[in-house]
Amino acid sequence: MRFETILAQDIQYNPFEMIGKQWLLVSAGDKERCNTMTASWGGVGVIWNKNVVTVYIRPQRYTHELMEASDYFCVSVLPESMRQVLAYCGKASGRDEDKLAVSHLTPRFEKTISGFEEADLNIYCRKLYAADLTPEGFTDPMLDTRNYPQKDYHTMYIGEIIKVEKKLQD
Ligand SMILES: Cc1cc2nc3c(=O)[nH]c(=O)nc-3n(C[C@H](O)[C@H](O)[C@H](O)COP(=O)(O)O)c2cc1C
Repeated sequence: MRFETILAQDIQYNPFEMIGKQWLLVSAGDKERCNTMTASWGGVGVIWNKNVVTVYIRPQRYTHELMEASDYFCVSVLPESMRQVLAYCGKASGRDEDKLAVSHLTPRFEKTISGFEEADLNIYCRKLYAADLTPEGFTDPMLDTRNYPQKDYHTMYIGEIIKVEKKLQD
């Protein structure tokens, strides 16, 4: 597959569609231990004068363990034809199986982190900030009750966008 490198500000996707509807793969780890999971919560934006991606990962995910150990992570947008891969990566755990092998995803490394040859867009990020959401933080307590019956509060990871690859159409 051929990709072009584009600037973060030239990403053409509507973030609400890209994250909430199309869904993302969030990848963490390194060449020895690489894993990916589906995510539909997150954001793209600006903080500390940097273009950033924010993702929210619950502590029980294998990806969480790898995010904690990694300096980088990657978010990828897959074509609509690969929705079954997103469904699988949002259900199976990398603790139990090699999700990349099962879903025939081909890693594409930038520094220590992988995007995918099959993706339409790979956004490689350098981890800048990690913090757990807390019950005290909610100004609307209903959100806590509804989303965290098991008190498994997401960790928020903010990553600086260091490279964006867009697939070239043949
Ligand atoms: C559509 C969809 C969106 C999801 N979004 C998130 C999310 O934003 N954060 C999260 O922690 N888990 C999310 N999940 C759940 C994880 O993808 C799922 O638990 C996955 O199996 C974790 O894999 P891992 O153990 O290999 O990290 C989502 C699942 C689906 C199907």
